[in-house]
Amino acid sequence: MELRVKRAPRIDIEITVPGDKSISHRAVIIAALSNGECTLRGFLPSEDCMHTVNAMRALGIKIEQPEPTTLIVHGKKRVLTAPKKEINCGNSGTTMRLLAGLLAGQTFESRLVADAGLSRRPMDRVIAPLCEMGASIVAEGPEQTPPLRIRGGSLRGIHYSPSVASAQVKGALLLAGLFARGKTTVEEPLPTRNHMEKMFSYFLVRTAIEDEDAAITVFGDQMPESRDFDIPGDISSAAFWLVAAAAQRRGHLLIRDVGLNDTRTALLGVLLRMGAQVREAVEDVDQVEPRGIVEVTGVPLKATVIQGKEVPQLIDELPILSVAGALANGKTIIRQAEELRVKESDRIAAVAHNLRIMGARVAELNDGMEIYGPAPLHGARVPSFDDHRIAMAFAIAGLFAEGETIVQDPECIGESYPGFETVLEEFTNSKRMQISTPVIGSLAPTPVEEG
Ligand code: S3P
Repeated sequence: MELRVKRAPRIDIEITVPGDKSISHRAVIIAALSNGECTLRGFLPSEDCMHTVNAMRALGIKIEQPEPTTLIVHGKKRVLTAPKKEINCGNSGTTMRLLAGLLAGQTFESRLVADAGLSRRPMDRVIAPLCEMGASIVAEGPEQTPPLRIRGGSLRGIHYSPSVASAQVKGALLLAGLFARGKTTVEEPLPTRNHMEKMFSYFLVRTAIEDEDAAITVFGDQMPESRDFDIPGDISSAAFWLVAAAAQRRGHLLIRDVGLNDTRTALLGVLLRMGAQVREAVEDVDQVEPRGIVEVTGVPLKATVIQGKEVPQLIDELPILSVAGALANGKTIIRQAEELRVKESDRIAAVAHNLRIMGARVAELNDGMEIYGPAPLHGARVPSFDDHRIAMAFAIAGLFAEGETIVQDPECIGESYPGFETVLEEFTNSKRMQISTPVIGSLAPTPVEEG
């Protein structure tokens, strides 16, 4: 399949985005461990999240889906049953790493398998600490890659300082910690998205957060209390449209009901630094995850530097921010982002390859890249590298290119953003809705992080 994109006419549009992927995975797992029925609304019915749903079903949890975005999860008081066969995580790294933590706490044996892409990704980052807690985990692939064979139970809590800043690793250890004796503490090198800890507190699981959010502790042997939860829109999905509007002079976009957790909104600070007008208004914090409105007005963007503690907080937005860099005036520098090399693709190599095909000058670095803008982008045939965020980032690049851009193999978009193509059509259709400008508080630009 191919996705064909042409240059966008003036952008002036209001949209919503599908549910948050990270929160959807976590909500299903925690609800499944709870002591009763939980209705989850705003769930993201993407391929990745459905792998987590099907995994929990394979572990004996009844999950109904009366409509695509609503799940009724029947929590079974932490009781999971041995799966009849191996559990397929598809291309979902979050599913595999979070489940590794959950299954490390179970006495039965299970096997997690992956598709070709995920089978190349490192699992030592969860295997080592989970084994330290007392689980036995064997990676059957070369160099600690999937499939994983897990036998757990009888865990003890540990204090662990991962060498990579990863919310998946933190999430895996906190889930294992629920089944461990004593307390389990994760001390992160840099703060990552904090959805697991927020969801734990919402489901009344006792945690302690110390050292300015750097160390999070969960106390063992606890059961989540069942309750309903509304999942906000995914700011990482919104990012594609926010960059499109920000990079178009007088482009204007309003996104409603999107998650505004401050461990996920670093993108907004970067767009401000690049000169765009950005406004954010939190409208609801009732259910632990803040949600609200984001509005962007576009300008000719200026180059910026992205490094340091900003990196883990916009790790999924770096492909689309690289496209913003190609459209911005000056040299955009991304450093300390070597984690990009072990995502759904090597995102440094993939972005550099595709930007060059479209006419931009890019220097690839071990831990990032330098992008020289503004590049007069021209339409081209670009591979997706079977990576949803690369496919979407280059569909957006196509909105700014002369001629037609063809994104090859865009099916992977369904892993995180079913319906992306429909919104893309609205962006390329000149018959668009004119919206009024709401008056919401302004943001101040975030300074560049010292490296
Ligand atoms: C995620 C964490 C990030 C991110 C991924 C989702 C999560 O991965 O890239 O898309 O839900 O915990 P890492 O924690 O490995 O950086």
